[in-house]
Amino acid sequence: MNGFAQKKNPRTKSQVIKRKKSPKNRKECVRKSFQIAIDGPVAAGKGTVSRLLAQKLGFLYVDTGAMYRATALLALRAQISLDDEDQIVSLLEKSKLEMRNPIAPKELDGRLTTVILDNEDVSWAIRTQKCGDGASKVATLSQLRKVLVKKQQKIAVNQNVIMEGRDITFRVLPQANLKIFLTASVEARAVRRHTQYLTKGINVSLKDVIKEIKERDERDMQRKTDPLQIKADVWVVDTSKLAIE
Ligand code: DC
Repeated sequence: MNGFAQKKNPRTKSQVIKRKKSPKNRKECVRKSFQIAIDGPVAAGKGTVSRLLAQKLGFLYVDTGAMYRATALLALRAQISLDDEDQIVSLLEKSKLEMRNPIAPKELDGRLTTVILDNEDVSWAIRTQKCGDGASKVATLSQLRKVLVKKQQKIAVNQNVIMEGRDITFRVLPQANLKIFLTASVEARAVRRHTQYLTKGINVSLKDVIKEIKERDERDMQRKTDPLQIKADVWVVDTSKLAIE
C-alpha cells in the first residue's frame, strides 16, 4: 500500500488500452504532438525514468517541479514572502523561463534538465533544499498554478513531450496519450533520497529524510488546488522493488 487515495479501478500494467473506433473518438485522438504524462510523489523516480524515456524516444523532458523551484528561487532572491501570491505571480510573469534537454558537452554534468531563468542557467541553483521547500510552498498558490499550467500546456502543444509533476495527468495534459502514476513506499523513497544526499556530500540522517518526505507528501496531497491524486484512467506503477532498468 503506497498511502495514496486511489479512484476505483485504476489501470494496471497488465490491462490493454482499448480505444473506441467511432469517427468522433478518432478525431479526438489526433494531436499535433505525442504526450506522455507522469505524476507521483517526491522521490518516486519520475525524473530519472522520464529523462531516460525522453532520450530513447527523442522527446522533450519537462520537469514541472523545476518550474515551481525556479519560481521559489525568484521569490527568495527578491526577498518576497512565499505566500505573497500577487507579487510572486507578477515577478514570474515578468521573467523568462525556458526548459530544454541538456546540451552536450557543457550541460552533461549529471543534471536531468536544463532550466534557464532570465538568461541564467539555474539548473543547479534550484536543486537546494531551500528551493525544494520553497517550491512546495509556492505550489499551494492557486493563481500561480494557473500561470504555470498554461506555460506547461503551451510547451506540449507542438512538440513530443514527457512531462512529469503532480497534476500533469489530470490538469495539465488530461488528454495525454499515456498517463502514468509512479509511486513507491515512503521508506523506499527515503532510502533513495538519502543516498542522493550522501553522494552530494550532504550529511543528513535517514530519519530526517523520512520526516522530510512525509511533510512533502502531506503538503502535496492536502493543498486546495489540484492536490496530488490518482485518477481512474492512469496506469499505476509502484517502483518500491524495481531497479531503474
Ligand atoms: O518534483 P519536485 O520535488 O522538484 O517539485 C517541487 C515542488 O513543486 C513539490 O513540492 C511539488 C510541487 N509541484 C507541484 O505542485 N506540481 C507540479 N506539477 C510539480 C511540482
